[in-house]
Amino acid sequence: YNIIAPNLSSCHESLTDANRRVYCCPPYYPDEPIVDFQFPDPTTTPLRIRRPAHKLTPEFIQNYSNAIKAMQSLPLSDPRNFLRQAALHCIFCTGSYDQILNSPTDHRPPGIIKIHRSWLFMPWHRMLFYFHERIVGDLIGDPTFGLPYWNWDTPEGMRDVAHLPPATANDNYDYDESHSGEELVQSNLALLYHQMVSGARKAELFHGCSYKAGQDGACDGAGTIELAPHNPLHTWVGSNLQPEREDLGAFYTAGKDPLFYAHHSNVDRMWELWQRSRAYQPEITDPDWLDSYFFFYDEKLQLTRIKIRDVLKITNLRYTYEEADLPWLNAKP
Ligand code: C2O
Repeated sequence: YNIIAPNLSSCHESLTDANRRVYCCPPYYPDEPIVDFQFPDPTTTPLRIRRPAHKLTPEFIQNYSNAIKAMQSLPLSDPRNFLRQAALHCIFCTGSYDQILNSPTDHRPPGIIKIHRSWLFMPWHRMLFYFHERIVGDLIGDPTFGLPYWNWDTPEGMRDVAHLPPATANDNYDYDESHSGEELVQSNLALLYHQMVSGARKAELFHGCSYKAGQDGACDGAGTIELAPHNPLHTWVGSNLQPEREDLGAFYTAGKDPLFYAHHSNVDRMWELWQRSRAYQPEITDPDWLDSYFFFYDEKLQLTRIKIRDVLKITNLRYTYEEADLPWLNAKP
């Protein structure tokens, strides 16, 4: 019964990383019906293929940007609205919900829920982007739509043309701008080798610390990929003209930057690659992890309860990643 789940009726003001107050809550309807997640039917659901962002076709980019515009023009009362989607991240990174205590004999004060820096990081984000992708696909009438991934683990994907001035992404960015070019590419690859292979031989290292009901806020021990490149790339892309490097550099606003979705698509791909490297052996068998659950709206506006155990295999969710070279596999220091 140490299952984490949000109490949807409890949404409240919360704090950004710099301790400023924010309010990210959605409307709450106490009688709204909630269904349990069902796997999409493999015989009728096409497989979505997530492709590297630097290889997208102009039509794909056009369709995707039409979808974002469509989401932006939906009313805020619609959970598919772009800002409502972005607010989900704000809610779960700043701790807007209290926990549901799942046992009648549990009289601990319910702590808040934050999904970063713990074993909730990978599965919660997988859920968020899974539902987001279904919504995008539905709005453009393309059931095969797959989110692009920012392929920051290859030299081609590290070249960021949107950065001003254009630069090589620093997967371990720590405000030091002096690294560049080939030296930076090599240190990025060595970092990935460590985060995916040598430093991630145990599930606790890859996923981060165990965070259970009754704890107020996360246990505060991020897994390898969350720690880097995930965190540093948020900071690197975020604007240094904003107090908390908004949008991408601050968790409460990150979801407003369309790059957020491609960045996390690659984070999620790292989880898939890590699982594949260990032949999909069970990673964490603790039921407190497997049965922890969250709520998301699907593209039909159906509020759905989904458990971590539901998202452990992407083929069950009917999406996959287009294969790309993994140059970091040979970047043993
Ligand atoms: Cu929820 Cu990239 O952070």
